[in-house]
Amino acid sequence: MLDVSKIRKDFPMLQNSKTEEANLIYFDNAATTFKPQTVVDAINRYNSKKTTNIHRGDYALSYQISEEYEKARLTVAKFINADAKEIVFTSGATASLNLVAFGYGRKFLKQGDVILMSVAEHASNILPWFTTAKAVGAIIEYIQLTDEGELTIGNFIKAMHDGVKVVSVSHVTNVMGFIAPIKQMAKIAHQFKAIICVDGAQSVPHIMTNVKEWDIDFLSFSAHKMCGPTGVGVLFGKYRLLEEMDALHLGGGSNARFDIAGNILLKNPPVKFEAGTPAIDAVLGLQKAIDYLDGIGMEEIEKYEHSLRIYFMEQLVKLPNFHIYNPHAPTGIITFNVEKIFAQDVAVFLSSKGIAVRAGDHCAKLLVNLLGVSDTVRASINFYNTKNEIDCFIEACKEITLEKCIDLYL
Ligand code: ALA
Repeated sequence: MLDVSKIRKDFPMLQNSKTEEANLIYFDNAATTFKPQTVVDAINRYNSKKTTNIHRGDYALSYQISEEYEKARLTVAKFINADAKEIVFTSGATASLNLVAFGYGRKFLKQGDVILMSVAEHASNILPWFTTAKAVGAIIEYIQLTDEGELTIGNFIKAMHDGVKVVSVSHVTNVMGFIAPIKQMAKIAHQFKAIICVDGAQSVPHIMTNVKEWDIDFLSFSAHKMCGPTGVGVLFGKYRLLEEMDALHLGGGSNARFDIAGNILLKNPPVKFEAGTPAIDAVLGLQKAIDYLDGIGMEEIEKYEHSLRIYFMEQLVKLPNFHIYNPHAPTGIITFNVEKIFAQDVAVFLSSKGIAVRAGDHCAKLLVNLLGVSDTVRASINFYNTKNEIDCFIEACKEITLEKCIDLYL
């Protein structure tokens, strides 16, 4: 059983009792997460004691840090059950998804090919595909979701046809919080000779990931949503696909040779995609974040967060005037509105009580067609949250009125 009071001691952001951030109840974990001390220490160690570039220096410190950087790649690979050569470091999930849409999509999609997604996708998984579709003449189609925003295998099968060449969906959507049946979807996509590109930004930090078992083609995720630093993310790609697709950024480190006639020979993946000096400190921090999650165990994390979610829902459904959009989602993403109060005003009111949530469209602007509203309040939990924090949240919610919200602006 996960020992949350012990875990909380590892996070500096949860030890701020003497600062102005005292007692912040943080339910905005889908936006970003707190970092344990080990991650902070790894970043500080690199910047204060081990600063050097990697893969370029013929001296001991550069060798050491180059080796640590490659060990971090191996740690990421093991965490999602991939091979190290299939792990590309990017600046985040957004960059990873752009790399697939531009590096793969622009190269292999043709006029009339179909890119299949859902209206619950984050902008980072929609806009690159919109742009690619426009450039090559491909067509975007959407898988029908249930009224609550769940992607079911039945609806996926209905949406599949021979014209679909790319399926690009979130494993867990950032507003509705449902888990897509990725393994079954990959099998069906492949029967139709389509590839499946998975946005794992909201799933990799919370549930066990196994790219080999699921047989998915691409997976994108960010370090900062899994207790790691900002500025680094991952693109997993099947090696053959990484070999075939184009790199978006060209420059130092990623090329084997080039000549005055303009001939360029790139190195093999993943180095082919990592031109320029990477976020070395952030990669080393990501390794520590994964070590930390592994130390707790992803199954434990999933189980604990699910129990928190159930507790959260049991309390929230009792509140009159609260409309919950995803009552049956299994993850720690809870999306709601309070009758007659604008979502952002709810968030500002909760902030006045020391509670952080996100309000707005959450970068999933196509959801307005499903939800009938553009703005919602989203509470998102992580394994360091507690039932006590949920109780405080519910007490604050009981107090909310339109008048009190208006007073905050006066
Ligand atoms: N994609 C992040 C979120 O859902 C920022 O809040």
